[in-house]
Amino acid sequence: MSMRVLVTRNGLPGSGVERLGAAADPVFWTGGGKPGPEELAALAPGAGAVLALGNDPVDAALLDAAGPSLRVVALASMGYDNVDRAAAAERGIVVTHTPHVLAETTADLAFALILAARRRLGAATADLARGGWDLFRMHDYLGLDVHGATLGLIGYGQIGRAVARRAHGFGMRVRHHDPYATTGDALSTATGLDELLAQSDIVSLHVPLTDETRHLISARELALMKPTATLVSTARGGVVDEDALLHAVREGRLHSAGLDVYEREPMGTELSPLAKEENIVTLPHIGSATHATRAAMVDLAVDNILDVLAGRPARTALPG
Ligand code: DGY
Repeated sequence: MSMRVLVTRNGLPGSGVERLGAAADPVFWTGGGKPGPEELAALAPGAGAVLALGNDPVDAALLDAAGPSLRVVALASMGYDNVDRAAAAERGIVVTHTPHVLAETTADLAFALILAARRRLGAATADLARGGWDLFRMHDYLGLDVHGATLGLIGYGQIGRAVARRAHGFGMRVRHHDPYATTGDALSTATGLDELLAQSDIVSLHVPLTDETRHLISARELALMKPTATLVSTARGGVVDEDALLHAVREGRLHSAGLDVYEREPMGTELSPLAKEENIVTLPHIGSATHATRAAMVDLAVDNILDVLAGRPARTALPG
């Protein structure tokens, strides 16, 4: 009898789920919207694997609901802050994620946010759409240059490096701060955090959300940034103290921000004040949202499941 695999969403992109169905017995959450912990727990008993997204809660209760058959939690996401990894490690469950396959696509979006925030694309588009473009004036819609600016990357892993490569095409100077990448390379100079904040025209965040990075960018760090600077995040909402950011932008202590991630997701109709601020470009967590990349993420998650269920090491396991 093939192994039960709990898949937290129906209709995932690509052909990965089809492959999973050929080798295992997937059961899908088919309710509308995001499944709650009880709904997932009800489907979990006897599962050998869970395929989840980056914002599905995977806690000890879900692992226990699956029971001793559970061997792997495979995330179709690079971020893994939604998983209780300590609980998984205690139970001998492998947790995998999807690095590599989404780095370039997410870096593209980080760059889109940099350009949109610096050149005030949101405000300009909205003005045109409401019929406000009545004359070419030299002083309308002015933004700040991206080419030649200094870019500070907080987190210099796969995505940070992919952003650095793009920045060189724009003639930018690149600095990074990362406790795990303390030396520079041909693309970027390693810098202390405070120095990076003070020197950069654009600061882009590329760290996972952990106990060390929660509210890494708070009032103190924002105060170190130039009033002409832009903060961009495609990482996780919890890395930034959103109230402090909102006040810094509103009070003109920071030029702008570009955000793809929030402390509370999704927003639905209850918009965060960040989404209503002219100088903050907000997107609905679409860093990896291209057809090819989303399919590749599901594919890699399925490969990880099939490997572990077949007794092979997972391709992209997180440290236990
Ligand atoms: C990721 O892969 O971490 C993206 O943010 C989607 O969850």
